[in-house]
Amino acid sequence: MSNYDVIIIGGGPGGYVCAIRCAQLGLKTACVEGRGALGGTCLNVGCIPSKALLHASHSLHEAQTNFTKMGLMGKSPSVDMGKMMDYKQGVIDGNTAGIEFLFKKNKVDYIQGWGKISGKGEVTVGDDVHTAKNIVIATGSEPSALPGVTVDERVVVTSTGALSLPKVPKKLVVIGAGVIGLELGSVYARLGSEVTVVEFLDQVTPGMDGEICKTFQRSLKKQGLKFVMGAAVQKVTATKTKAKITYLLRKNDTEATIDADVVLVATGRKPYTDGLGLAEIGVEMTDRGQVQTNAHWQTNVEGIYALGDVITGPMLAHKAEDEGMAVAETIAGQAGHVNYDVIPGVIYTTPEVASVGKTEEQLKEEGRAYKVGKFNFMGNGRAKANFAGEGFVKILADASTDRILGCHLMGPAAGELIHEICVAMEFGASAEDIARTCHAHPTYSEAVREAALACGDGAIHA
Ligand code: FAD
Ligand code: NAI
Repeated sequence: MSNYDVIIIGGGPGGYVCAIRCAQLGLKTACVEGRGALGGTCLNVGCIPSKALLHASHSLHEAQTNFTKMGLMGKSPSVDMGKMMDYKQGVIDGNTAGIEFLFKKNKVDYIQGWGKISGKGEVTVGDDVHTAKNIVIATGSEPSALPGVTVDERVVVTSTGALSLPKVPKKLVVIGAGVIGLELGSVYARLGSEVTVVEFLDQVTPGMDGEICKTFQRSLKKQGLKFVMGAAVQKVTATKTKAKITYLLRKNDTEATIDADVVLVATGRKPYTDGLGLAEIGVEMTDRGQVQTNAHWQTNVEGIYALGDVITGPMLAHKAEDEGMAVAETIAGQAGHVNYDVIPGVIYTTPEVASVGKTEEQLKEEGRAYKVGKFNFMGNGRAKANFAGEGFVKILADASTDRILGCHLMGPAAGELIHEICVAMEFGASAEDIARTCHAHPTYSEAVREAALACGDGAIHA
C-alpha cells in the first residue's frame, strides 16, 4: 500500500499529462493504466497510428500522382501491408516508451493494472490498495455500439480493427462520415480500396462550418470516395469474409443494401467507466454516461476529479491534455483554466481541414453581425508549387470591432496554420492585427494573412 497526493486512473493524453504536471508541481503522484502501455487511445489506437497510416498512404498517393509531374520517373511503389503495419507499430512503441521515460524523469509512479475506486481516497489495483488525497478519473472513451451491428474486428471493425487490417479490402464500407470515417476512409481509398461512406445526415463532419463541409466532401469525391447521404444503417450481416449493410434512405423511407469486404463502424465514441466503481461511491453521471463535473473538473464526491473524453466536451486529445494540466494546477492550489472557446479541430486528410471558434451557421443563429475574409490557396505561390492549391482560408470577424470570431480552413498544412488564429484569438486580436503582421514568403501562412487582409481593404493576390 502506498500513499499519494494524487492518483490518476488512466494513462491517456488527459491522464499522463495531468500526472506529469502534478509531479512537476511537487505532488506525490501515481498513474494507473490497464492496457499495458501508456498513451491511451490516442497513442495506441487513435491519433498516432491513424496519422502514421495517413502519412504512408499520402506518400503513396504523391508517388502515384505528382512525382512524374516533377520529372521524378520510375515505377510507383506497391503496398506491403505487413511492413506498413510494422512502421505504424514502431511509431506507437516509440511514443508510448517516451511517456514511460517522462514518468521516470518526473518521478511519477506507473501502476500497471485496472484501477477501481474502492472507497474515499482509495484505489484498488489487483490485490493492492493505494490511498490518495485526490483521485482523477481519466479513463477515456470507447467506440459506441450501433444497434443491429456486431463488431468482430475482422470483417466488421471499429477504428481499432481498421488500424490493423492484414490486407487492403477490395470494398470498404464506412458507416459514419465523421472524423474517424473520413480519415480512415481516405487511408484505404489511397491504398486502393473502393470506399463507400454511408452517413445518417445530409452533410459530412457535422458541426463544422457548412461551406467547409461541402467543399471537403467534393474534394473527397474527386479522390474516389463514394457517399450515400441521409441513410440510417439498420443492420449489418456478416460471414467470415463478407458483409451486407442494410440502410434506410431517410428522404423516401426506402431500404437498400450494399456489400463490403470490410465494414468500418465509425458512429461516435462513448465515455468508458466500466469497473471503476463509480455507482458504489455515488459519483454523479450525465444522462449521456459522462462523469458529471463542475467548472473546476470536480465531481460531486470530494477529492475526485475527472477530465478528458470521460467528461463533457469535444473528444480530442489536446482538450484532454489541457484539462490534465488545469486539473493538476487546481489540485496544487493554482488557478487551472481551459478556454473552451479556442479549441482547434483538425481532420488530417489531404487536403487537411481545420477550424477554431464560431462557424458561420453559429454566428447567424446568434444574430451577430460578422464579416468574412476568404482566400483560396490557388493564389498562394507555395501551394501552387506543391500541387496543393485546393481549398481556402476563411476568417470570420466581428463586423464592427474586427475581432476574430472563428477561422475555417481546408488546404495544405491547415492543422498547423490554424494555430496562428488560436494565438490571435487568445489575445483578442483583430483580423487587421494578422493582416499587418509580416509573413515570410513563400509560405502557406501567407494565405492566412491574405484572408485577414480580405476582412479589410482586400487581399492582394485574389
Ligand atoms: P484515453 O486516451 O481513452 O485514455 C484513457 C486510458 O484509461 C486508456 O488507456 C484506458 O486503458 C485507461 N483506463 C480506462 N479505465 C481504466 C481503469 N479502470 N484502470 C486503469 N486504466 C484505465 N484526437 C485528436 O485530438 N486528434 C486526433 O488526430 C485524433 N485521432 C483519433 C483517431 C482515432 C482512430 C480515435 C479512436 C480517436 C482519435 N482522437 C483524436 C481522439 C483521442 O484519441 C481522444 O480524445 C483522447 O485519447 C482522449 O484522451 P483521454 O486521456 O481522455 O482518454
Ligand atoms: P463522429 O461523431 O465524428 O461521427 C459519427 C458520424 O456517424 C456522424 O456523422 C453521425 O451522423 C453518423 N452516424 C451515426 N449513426 C449512424 C447510422 N446509424 N448510420 C449512418 N451514420 C450514422 O464520430 P467518429 O468519427 O466515430 O469519431 C469519434 C470521436 O473521435 C470524435 O468525437 C472525434 O473528435 C474523435 N476523433 C478525432 C480525430 C481528429 O481530431 N482528427 C480523428 C478521429 C477521431
